[in-house]
Amino acid sequence: MIETIEQYLERCRGLVEGAIEGNLPPSDAAPSVIHEAMRYAVLAGGKRIRPILAIAACEALGADATPLLRSFAALELIHTYSLVHDDLPALDNDDLRRGRKTTHVVFGEAIGILTGDALLTEAFSWLARPAGDVEPASQLRALLEVAQAVDSRGMIGGQVADLEAERALDGSAQRAELAARLDFIHRNKTGRLLTASVLLGGILAGASESSLELLSRYGRAVGLAFQIVDDLLDTEESAETLGKTAGKDVAQGKLTFPALYGLAEARREADRLLAEAVALADMIGGPGNYLAEIARYICHRRS
Ligand code: IPE
Ligand code: IPE
Ligand code: MG
Ligand code: MG
Ligand code: MG
Repeated sequence: MIETIEQYLERCRGLVEGAIEGNLPPSDAAPSVIHEAMRYAVLAGGKRIRPILAIAACEALGADATPLLRSFAALELIHTYSLVHDDLPALDNDDLRRGRKTTHVVFGEAIGILTGDALLTEAFSWLARPAGDVEPASQLRALLEVAQAVDSRGMIGGQVADLEAERALDGSAQRAELAARLDFIHRNKTGRLLTASVLLGGILAGASESSLELLSRYGRAVGLAFQIVDDLLDTEESAETLGKTAGKDVAQGKLTFPALYGLAEARREADRLLAEAVALADMIGGPGNYLAEIARYICHRRS
């Protein structure tokens, strides 16, 4: 029997959490505070959408994701590190994440910074470890793909541009310039890691170059849609539903899709990207291909 998307997401979440739990250093390893903080940050819930995209891409190409789960779970460590740092006082200064206090609020700012550092380093260690019977050259290619997605020209570049664009809407910049900056921010701070997630699944599954190209285009569409929806939810939902502070983007003068284009136009753009992603997903795989359903979930989620 084919699972519904809800069942699929729940089962994958369980697999990802098992891989995280089983591979993180134990919380009593010295110095225990950093290992407790890593576990606090990463085992706090979260949708686990990046590893799930990797699993789905891998399965869409007919490969078994089971021996690759540690590699896919590494994506969640990188994502969680980016959230721990995003919430720091010097960045978005948030005290609520995944329904509980942010890591730096509980453990102090210094340990908060170091927890991010430790999660990022641990992730690359997981990506470098044996992964099923994947050829070393493919594994190296996958590792490079992930590294480049989150470096200073990727996710970090997007985060820098996000900070630089605070209050830009109040200035004298032309609409076309703001639109270009917004596109850069969203594609980099969020889109790049999501694209690398589907590519990681594809590369470790031994996908052909033409399949990887389709996966990359799918990743770019869902990656941008994901951040547009994150912006919409920030204005439309409550902190209770989101598990993180709501209404932050307006308060901090962030350059977002709703701020530049309005809610209705931002929603239309997310829907247009969803249609594009679904069309690509339909071209990628055969039965048991959940990529189209995951794109729908990303666009219609409430948190
Ligand atoms: C939030 O990511 C930050 C963005 C990149 C938009 P998620 O919405 O994936 O957060 P979790 O992992 O489910 O908490
Ligand atoms: C965060 O974007 C992107 C990264 C962490 C790379 P946001 O600042 O919009 O994420 P939230 O809304 O705090 O989750
Ligand atoms: Mg931010
Ligand atoms: Mg933030
Ligand atoms: Mg946000």
